[in-house]
Amino acid sequence: MTPRLFVLAALLCTSLVHANDDNLVADTKKIAMGIPPKLLAMLQTEIEKGNFSGAIGACSDKAPKMAAAASQSTGWAIRRVSLKNRNPKATPDAWEKAALEDFDQRALAGETPATLEKVEFVTEGDTRTLRYIKALPTQGLCLNCHGTLENMAPEVKAQIAKTYPDDRAVGYREGQIRGALTVKRPL
Ligand code: HEC
Repeated sequence: MTPRLFVLAALLCTSLVHANDDNLVADTKKIAMGIPPKLLAMLQTEIEKGNFSGAIGACSDKAPKMAAAASQSTGWAIRRVSLKNRNPKATPDAWEKAALEDFDQRALAGETPATLEKVEFVTEGDTRTLRYIKALPTQGLCLNCHGTLENMAPEVKAQIAKTYPDDRAVGYREGQIRGALTVKRPL
């Protein structure tokens, strides 16, 4: 191959790889972003009915099930994590923890929490993964179960204390980052 052709081929391949990476990012985000609105709608319905145990079920049972179903249909690992987690399994790994700490700082500095996200292609050994994490801001409705203990209904507190003796996910204010939805997609 002449040097000029080689350069051309190299350039073309690089841009193809980039286009492909962009597609990977776009469809990862599409799947991940479908989950929080569905969950929010479920929480809203149960809370409007005054059904807190149904709403707790929506956050504790349906949310992990939705993430598990999405993980199963895609083959990616999709879950929720938090720096102050309620479910002991929702502990962030090092990459997620760093992203969450960065989100907290950026939110403090005035960025809109709902826009905070991070995408990175990570190579560990032979495996390349696409990592995506999106902040889940605390909204008014979330305070029913993640707000200050004085403002939470006694039946909610009792149910949470029973199921999650090591709960750390209270004391939030509206606008703070409650946690994140995170995707680990093997490529
Ligand atoms: C009716 C009570 C209730 C409401 C309202 C609620 N949550 Fe939760 N939340 C829970 C429970 C219970 C868990 C533990 C779930 C589990 O076992 O995985 C949880 C877990 C989470 C987690 C996973 C990390 C962790 O701490 O275990 C995130 C993130 C989260 N909630 C965000 C929110 C957001 C954002 C809202 C508002 C849009 C919200 N929740 C509203 C009860 C609630």
